[in-house]
Amino acid sequence: MDKQAIDAVLRKIQGADSGEEASRVQKIVNRIVHDLFHTIEDFDVQPEEFWAAVHYLTEAGRNGEYGLIAAGLGLEHFLDLRMDEADARAGVNGGTPRTIEGPLYVAGAPEEKAFARLDQDPQPGEVLFMQGQVRDMDGKPVGNSLVEVWHANHLGGYSFFDQNQSPFNLRRSIRTDSEGRYRFRSRVPVGYSVPPGGSTDQLMKLLGRHGTRPAHIHFFVKAPGFRTLTTQINIEGDPFLWDDFAFATRDGLVPVLTKVTDDAAIRRDELDGPFYSIDFDFVLHKERDNLPKAEVVRDHFTV
Ligand SMILES: [Fe+2]
Repeated sequence: MDKQAIDAVLRKIQGADSGEEASRVQKIVNRIVHDLFHTIEDFDVQPEEFWAAVHYLTEAGRNGEYGLIAAGLGLEHFLDLRMDEADARAGVNGGTPRTIEGPLYVAGAPEEKAFARLDQDPQPGEVLFMQGQVRDMDGKPVGNSLVEVWHANHLGGYSFFDQNQSPFNLRRSIRTDSEGRYRFRSRVPVGYSVPPGGSTDQLMKLLGRHGTRPAHIHFFVKAPGFRTLTTQINIEGDPFLWDDFAFATRDGLVPVLTKVTDDAAIRRDELDGPFYSIDFDFVLHKERDNLPKAEVVRDHFTV
């Protein structure tokens, strides 16, 4: 069909000639449908292909993989870039960079004071201590902040989604001390891939891409009067560090991973051998009127 004929069909379907002002939802859905009509026309998409796509989307929903697909297609990173741009327009620059939340946060992890042990289930891997301070842009400590942390186990699985792990394994909320200090003990995470053969994996393969994330640890950092930070840190040295299928690696989020071999430090942490350590401070912006929203409100799984 020619483009004018397509647009005439769209006007009829979308009621564009009704004279009524379209709502925001109508405008957005109409735009997406418009683009889809023209995509079908431009690529001469065949009915079999169209229905295969509908079946794919149905399966992706059944598998609960839309969150992963949004990450893999770069949509979640794109939203970050747009929020960065809105912040910059409002004069908010610097501080710890944000990066994607991903689809695997679970609300309600136990809250602990200043220190938490994340690896509740026994698992192989190097012992990791990570510690630091929550500070404001002037370098002042932000006491009693909440550092929510979650990461995958040695098989790349997250508790709650992986039934083999105990509830909230590798998930904790750490209330910092009055100096904004936090510390946790865990295992050095490894990278992981999207479920093999799943909807995201199928799509990535069709696009000539992989579905692997480099090793990382997720955080929400919150404090009254401050803008909530959603971020991750990466484990340096991971071969996929700058080839993340979700595009989440950012400058400023790759701290040094130090191997600690000093006997006194090993004894102090009641270990029997060398361990790894990461120092990382979170730098938050003060909340003020008329700034774009920093916290993304979205549905979360809750135990
Ligand atoms: Fe993750």
